Amino acid sequence: MPASRTGGRAVMADADTAALDARLGYSKVDQQPDVATVLAGMDATAAWPSVRRLRAWERARLAPRPGDEVLDVGCGLGDVAATLAANVAPGGRVVGIDASTSMLEVARSRVADAGVSVDFHTGDAADLGEPDAAFDICRSERTLQWLEEPGRAVNEMVRVLRPGGRLCITDTDWLTLTIDIPDDDAVAAFREAIPRLRGTPASAGSKLLNLCRDAGITGLEATAETHVWTQWSPDTEATPSGVFPIPPIVHQMVEARALDAATGSRFLEQLVHAGRTGRVFMSVGMFAVAGRRPG
Ligand SMILES: C[S@@+](CC[C@H](N)C(=O)[O-])C[C@H]1O[C@@H](n2cnc3c(N)ncnc32)[C@H](O)[C@@H]1O
Repeated sequence: MPASRTGGRAVMADADTAALDARLGYSKVDQQPDVATVLAGMDATAAWPSVRRLRAWERARLAPRPGDEVLDVGCGLGDVAATLAANVAPGGRVVGIDASTSMLEVARSRVADAGVSVDFHTGDAADLGEPDAAFDICRSERTLQWLEEPGRAVNEMVRVLRPGGRLCITDTDWLTLTIDIPDDDAVAAFREAIPRLRGTPASAGSKLLNLCRDAGITGLEATAETHVWTQWSPDTEATPSGVFPIPPIVHQMVEARALDAATGSRFLEQLVHAGRTGRVFMSVGMFAVAGRRPG
């Protein structure tokens, strides 16, 4: 039995989103067979109350003002960049860098609709291609978890900040994932299979503070938020809001030998049962750090 079928019924995720590849994740968005669904995931997570609270925390620390020059690394659909562009006008500028041309295509059209100006271009967080000390503010949200070496991206962000420039980095830590099903060992095995499947650390969130300390950032502050899911209807919804579809992920984990098939089936059986009986409880932690480049 494929790991993505349980209880004799195919769950919704099979039909609609099996094509999504958790191995590519957000590292290689443009190579996903169903890019539109990946982009829709960004709008879903932007609506999470936990993400909204983290963005408010960030905003209070970055304090954008007219004339500021701002860089958003891994800007995705550009919603935060668009807000920042309005904040730094007149006289400021916002640059958004992302690895995905599909993300940037949507971002360009949204900022045009919003009547603001952002300079979006494709690039790599690990090698920004921007001059030294060019920005007053640098931010990155939920992007470092998709990099093989998050520390390189932090060093790059510090390099392009002016002395005294403000930095804020936010990321999820998938090792904090909790799921209330009877088999805690299966949950632990699933959690540990996430970085093995992706090939990226996936636990970037809890490493942010020390990465910033190592990069010489001063005045550091840190905070955390937890996102909680309490429902998922596996027969009518492809996935809990904002998450890559779990049944195909389990299937891909088993295929990649990151998770054994029996554990994968047990995990999925119990999670789908929780969904069908109104007993879902899942959570994941996100962390943010803010500080200044010395000088
Ligand atoms: C989970 S999304 C977050 C997007 C946006 N920051 C937000 O919070 O809505 C991760 C983003 O990182 C981008 N990304 C992944 N690897 C990257 C890299 N090496 N350099 C720049 N961007 C990257 C993806 O294309 C995607 O837009």
